[in-house]
Amino acid sequence: MQEAIEAIRNYEDVDSWKTIMFLYNSALKEVNTKLEILNDEFKHVHRYNPIEHIKTRIKTPASIVKKLKRNGYEISIENMIKYINDIAGVRLICSFTSDIYRLAGMIGTQSDLKVLAIKDYIKSPKESGYKSYHMLVSVPIFLSDSVVDTKVEIQIRTIAMDFWASLEHKIYYKFEGNAPGYISRDLRDCADMVSVLDEKMLSLNNAIQECLEQEEARREYGEHFREISGDTTKLGLSN
Ligand code: GTP
Ligand code: MG
Repeated sequence: MQEAIEAIRNYEDVDSWKTIMFLYNSALKEVNTKLEILNDEFKHVHRYNPIEHIKTRIKTPASIVKKLKRNGYEISIENMIKYINDIAGVRLICSFTSDIYRLAGMIGTQSDLKVLAIKDYIKSPKESGYKSYHMLVSVPIFLSDSVVDTKVEIQIRTIAMDFWASLEHKIYYKFEGNAPGYISRDLRDCADMVSVLDEKMLSLNNAIQECLEQEEARREYGEHFREISGDTTKLGLSN
């Protein structure tokens, strides 16, 4: 198994940047397909799809350079592969918090994916109020003459967490990290409301499932009862 940097050395005749972007794009496609299959299988077995939608993106060259500089690294392809973990990013948006852990478990057991790191910002939210489950995985990309392990960052969150993160990102960006204290506080309050909403939706869903199960049990019991009465008719015991 090769690291991405060795793959570049093997492709010296091709522009290194293009090679790297080709690898990360391929990794995104691989992970995206895997997730779609998991979702379809789940739908097939449980009549329920845990994934609301999947977003993928490749980090722009400008933001790769910005991040390297911010972290004090020289701008080089080697450093970018080594230190920037989110060049290829997948965001999985689920309905309920329970879906997040279910999906993380399913991803973790895929034998060809290596889980390199996990950050559970749901159990331990960030200072900002940010909640999400992050997995850094590497996926083997099968080229004509080699296999290259390529990193992909997977962020898993509910629709409500995504709503908060998207808006907070927009608001906070305008202040470039120097938002007044009361704005940060209000954003944290909003994050708490989002958590309450997620909990409420999960318990409502559980209650609905229970109702459906009870109804099904009643229906089954009714059918069973009719079957028994049918039998007694046959035996001439019905009147
Ligand atoms: P980055 O340098 O931001 O990538 O942070 P990191 O390498 O320490 O990783 P971390 O897991 O903390 O964050 C990775 C990604 O999570 C970010 O690029 C964002 O997409 C998201 N994220 C983390 N913290 C926040 C936050 O406070 N607000 C929002 N909206 N998104 C966040
Ligand atoms: Mg990032």
